[in-house]
Amino acid sequence: MEAPALEQRQSLHGSSERQQRFTSLILPNGAAAAEKNPMAAADYCPSDNDNDIDELTSTRTASPTTTDFSSSSDDNSTTLETSVNYSHSSNTNTNTSCPPSPITTTKTSSSLISKPSYPLPPPSTRLTTILPTDLKTPDHLIPRDPRLIRLTGSHPFNVEPPLTALFEHGFLTPQNLHYVRNHGPVPTSVDDSLLNWEFTVEGLVEHPLTISVRELMDASKWDNVTYPVTLVCAGNRRKEQNVLRKSKGFSWGAGGLSTALWTGVGLSEILAKAKPLTKKGARYVCFEGADQLPNGTYGTSVKLAWAMDPHKGIMVAHKMNGEELHPDHGRPVRVVVPGQIGGRSVKWLKRIVVTKGPSENWYHVFDNRVLPTTVGPEESGEKTEEMERVWRDERYAIYDLNVNSVICEPGHGEVVSLRGKEEGETYRLRGYAYAGGGRRVTRLEVTLDQGKSWRLAGIEYPEDRYREAQDGEELFGGRLDVSWRESCFCWCFWDLEIPLSELREAKDVCIRAMDESLALQPKEMYWSVLGMMNNPWFRVVIHHEGDTLRFEHPTQPMLTSDGWMDRVKKEGGNLANGFWGEKVPGAEENVVKQGPVKEISMVDDKVTRLITLEELRQHDGEEEPWFVVNGQVYDGTPFLEGHPGGAASITGAAGQDVTDEFLAIHSENAKAMMPTYHIGTLTPSALAALKSSSTSDPALSDPSRPIFLQSKTWNSAILTSKESVSPDTKIFHFTLSHPAQSIGLPVGQHLMMRLPDPAKPTESIIRAYTPISDGTSERGTLRVLVKIYYASPTEDIKGGQMTQALDALAVGKAVEFKGPVGKFVYQGRGVCSVNGRERKVKRFVMICGGSGVTPIYQVLRAVAVDEQDGTECLVLDGNRVEGDILMKRELDELVERVKPEGRCRVKYTLSRPGEEWTGLRGRLDKTMLEREVGERDLREETMVLLCGPEGMQNMVREVLKGLGWKDEDVLVF
Ligand code: MTE
Repeated sequence: MEAPALEQRQSLHGSSERQQRFTSLILPNGAAAAEKNPMAAADYCPSDNDNDIDELTSTRTASPTTTDFSSSSDDNSTTLETSVNYSHSSNTNTNTSCPPSPITTTKTSSSLISKPSYPLPPPSTRLTTILPTDLKTPDHLIPRDPRLIRLTGSHPFNVEPPLTALFEHGFLTPQNLHYVRNHGPVPTSVDDSLLNWEFTVEGLVEHPLTISVRELMDASKWDNVTYPVTLVCAGNRRKEQNVLRKSKGFSWGAGGLSTALWTGVGLSEILAKAKPLTKKGARYVCFEGADQLPNGTYGTSVKLAWAMDPHKGIMVAHKMNGEELHPDHGRPVRVVVPGQIGGRSVKWLKRIVVTKGPSENWYHVFDNRVLPTTVGPEESGEKTEEMERVWRDERYAIYDLNVNSVICEPGHGEVVSLRGKEEGETYRLRGYAYAGGGRRVTRLEVTLDQGKSWRLAGIEYPEDRYREAQDGEELFGGRLDVSWRESCFCWCFWDLEIPLSELREAKDVCIRAMDESLALQPKEMYWSVLGMMNNPWFRVVIHHEGDTLRFEHPTQPMLTSDGWMDRVKKEGGNLANGFWGEKVPGAEENVVKQGPVKEISMVDDKVTRLITLEELRQHDGEEEPWFVVNGQVYDGTPFLEGHPGGAASITGAAGQDVTDEFLAIHSENAKAMMPTYHIGTLTPSALAALKSSSTSDPALSDPSRPIFLQSKTWNSAILTSKESVSPDTKIFHFTLSHPAQSIGLPVGQHLMMRLPDPAKPTESIIRAYTPISDGTSERGTLRVLVKIYYASPTEDIKGGQMTQALDALAVGKAVEFKGPVGKFVYQGRGVCSVNGRERKVKRFVMICGGSGVTPIYQVLRAVAVDEQDGTECLVLDGNRVEGDILMKRELDELVERVKPEGRCRVKYTLSRPGEEWTGLRGRLDKTMLEREVGERDLREETMVLLCGPEGMQNMVREVLKGLGWKDEDVLVF
């Protein structure tokens, strides 16, 4: 291909012209930003429309030109609401007994220095109000800025600032607008004690250390440094990948990055004190946060050589823009790894562990990787050795950021009028760029003709201004440690004036950046299953509308389908054709071949038998039960024993068309097993007759019947009230057909609940639940405890379809029930039945988590209320915080009534216990199970009942197996 003609307007880095142009962008007092964007102004006061915030006012009192100096605090109880004085100084003014905080009193020094030329943080905003959307989440104590765009619904908190607001703030982003990536709840609240927080340095080190934040801030012990770092989420610009083909991540726009001045201690200095044992094979440094997530704590690792290298600038930071860290950004202490993806900068730091190999943490292995583009979402989830090997392949782990750039002006939807414009008038294109590993962006090129010719934009590195600082100059209690660094840890800004006459002729404008290693942004996207490191040319489409030009960015963050990518896709364009989905005359279609979407076949192609209605009806009982799904007939006999829902799930379906419920509750794996049980196709007349006729006996729906639940017939109960028992859990009260009607649910069994799908009213949602009512003795009512999985606008966190539909259901509406189902029944006095087979037990060990307590509660109640029942029970109930424990009062009351005392016990364990908590501490893990449950009872008279999240169930089964427990001793509800 012919080399593109470069129309060069070479920018000299740091030229005075360029510096002057960018002063408006980097004025530290926010004035320039405020000019364009009132939201950025120091005294932003909410308008009537901003009801979400009571106070968003500037609390920074000193201008950067004042003579105030940061000093120590008399009062260490700093909060987000405390006002901030900050300054720079060339003095060390640390009070060692009480480390300095900028959020405190000030003292002056006579050694004044002139106004710094480098950017200082924009005014901080005092956030005091908890947003309504956070109130129902575990982060309900954290004040946040309502302008941040939520990418995963209300929780967890994953947000980016609007691109215009981010860009207009210039080089440093205010803490409250900085993007946030939280995998789960924030583990520290605004009330936690800041200075006593400790983290450890351990593993392959000669001197293990335990360091408190107080010590870390103490200048007599540690050399505190301050410098700016741009953090970039590896998912920045992922929305573009998701529009091309859905990846496994949520949709970041181009605002997944922010820059702050970080203060802390170099990791190289900390490690130098700990002395890594390189001779013993120390090669990696693992970081672990305090957040408790579904797959353990958040953790990752970097190479020891990088961690020891002061040039890499890895820091343990306790201040951001001169303030203590906001809870969302790791309060009180975090790692900051410049030049690498944000995922390595572990927040809420608890442990630094020097190891031989890379981190084994789940989030290190299964996150933050760019797998080969051939690995699709389905394969990536396969539990095969091969797939495990691919995930663990360190070559696919991502560390250094790749080169990237974005157009910020014109913004998405910006309109430029051409009317009355003088000949030669220009439009100034502006945006940001960054590269990884400390590398500098060395050029930014712009094309108006889709890459046939390029022109060179000017580039400004505000970061360079800090290099001009005086030796030993201090900022926020840390040495401004930049002058000697040759590396670039921050984003840069580019700009280029384009004559309007040329924009008028162009269809689009594309940009690409190159870094000092000559890495260049590609034209084509490299799609990968996690959608990370997306960095193709950034393209803005120009719409010519009369006398105006309207600009359209590729995407917008979150679910909005704005942007040319979604538009082109909807119009039938193929985004992977090499021309952004446009039809290019004469150009060859270069379609990225995607494998066909895998359809799961539930039929055996060799089966040709036609089955009549009469034949089907002969199999509507417990012997050889047949059932119909999608017009196909299946014989459930061979699966009566193995069905996880028990034989009743199959016999309850015998002789019926159960298409809806089957499809609603079965996994892809279960569907893939179906060809084995396929015996024929129902004749068309039989299918029609089956659909039109009510297969059930009318007596089964007679409202006066004594028992409510029927195994083959859906019957309605009326929702009479909803009772909140925790922020996300409610008890739903239903009224049965008449006051004397009993539910008809043996202890340990479940019922099926069916609701119309609010999104598709012709379809229904079906789920199994264990109610908390006594299924045999209670009359006229039914109570079901349900944890509601609240919706998120992204596909990643859809929320629970059933639980939200139930939550939205108005009181007075009917809900349908059917049952019982389940393979386990507790008949009382130590007798149970498993798959219809009787078994005697002397002791139950019941392990549960969250709402998994409901079947456990049923069994414990049956034991406790029967004075003749001498069965021993131990319940281990694992939760996160005390407020998450469901039915605690009821469980405790049951245990109290059991004689002799101690025959039944309930032990609660919390992974995030408060100080007052007197129960067990820690997750339900191997150590706890070894201690509390121990080895298998050799008399074989103990049974383990298990109910909780799938991950927990699998882990418990695995551990118990190791302790000698047999499969038949462990029953998973
Ligand atoms: N550290 C902990 N403990 N837990 C997390 O969820 N997220 C990581 C990283 N550190 C995370 C963490 C990711 S993916 C990113 S991009 C950065 O934090 C984001 O930092 P920020 O939220 O302060 O912007």
